[in-house]
Amino acid sequence: MLRLLLALALALAVSCRTAPPEREAAGRSATAEAGRTDDNPPADVSHGEAPVGAVADSAPVDARLAPAERARLHTLRLEMRHVTISIAPGQRYAAWTFDGRVPGPVLRVRQGDTVDFTLLNRANIPHSMDFHAAELAPSRYYVNLMPGDSLQYRFVARVPGAFMYHCGTAPVAMHIANGMYGALIVDPATPRPAAHEFVLVQSEFYTGGAADSSGAASLDWNKLLGQSPDHVVFNGRASQYATSPLEVAPGELLRLYVVNAGPNRISSFHVVGGIFERVFQDGSLANPLRGVQTVNVPVGGGSIFELRLAEPGDYPFVTHAFADATKGAVGVLRAQAATVRGARALP
Ligand code: CU
Ligand code: CU
Repeated sequence: MLRLLLALALALAVSCRTAPPEREAAGRSATAEAGRTDDNPPADVSHGEAPVGAVADSAPVDARLAPAERARLHTLRLEMRHVTISIAPGQRYAAWTFDGRVPGPVLRVRQGDTVDFTLLNRANIPHSMDFHAAELAPSRYYVNLMPGDSLQYRFVARVPGAFMYHCGTAPVAMHIANGMYGALIVDPATPRPAAHEFVLVQSEFYTGGAADSSGAASLDWNKLLGQSPDHVVFNGRASQYATSPLEVAPGELLRLYVVNAGPNRISSFHVVGGIFERVFQDGSLANPLRGVQTVNVPVGGGSIFELRLAEPGDYPFVTHAFADATKGAVGVLRAQAATVRGARALP
């Protein structure tokens, strides 16, 4: 039944919708209040890929980007651990992680800052770390750490951008697909304009047989090689920001740092109902795109998207490769006036 609904919703989403605006607006508000029901297809609210605001679950990963610390030296210590995580409603996964989270912690520094990095392997197999934000000889620093070992070094984040970090132990596709990645944001020396900022890390899960007696899934290597994921997600969990929309204000400047960890699928990043004012492709400050609708974020890359939402309402963000959006790479920006968002009574 669910698959049928999804198929129906997708068909609705990709065809030209002819419903009059009044009907769509009514459907949207009714859905937001009552949650999705079977006679209330999700195409009305989320571009067809997920229910909006229908589940009591809160989003497990906070997508908001905290301001950078002022220090010029950042001490960073990450532990690599194998833990079971939730990647979709009812779906547990035996993940390999940085600090027990997928994606790993978001790191933020300023151009020219020094990162004093310590890596510990608390897992039972070798792992490593590859910082795309660093310029180092991999043969010296991106080396395998045996279980129980640690490694410490410093690097200078010389180039601004939205960078991926990941385990680089072979087979890399396996270590990434199991959850070993995250984002490192390097702010330019001249600060960007103030904005409401979020980090979205897109990635895939390929679920196979149970890894242990808990029933958590493990990696299906053949699905990975066939690039046929079960879930494509933002920040580690399918559709979490559809069920728990990201709250913003109409008209405010939004800045989305979108890092694509893959390991396989290109993200064709798009906000339904919005047009990007500027996009810094792969984080480069040179020649930002202006006034564009959809921009690819390559696997292993990270781009910075700036936009404003014109009026109150729900604005889905997706990879416009809709098979992947259907598999969970969908969320919602919910634009509401501040008094509505905070639910504060006026004096
Ligand atoms: Cu690893
Ligand atoms: Cu890499």
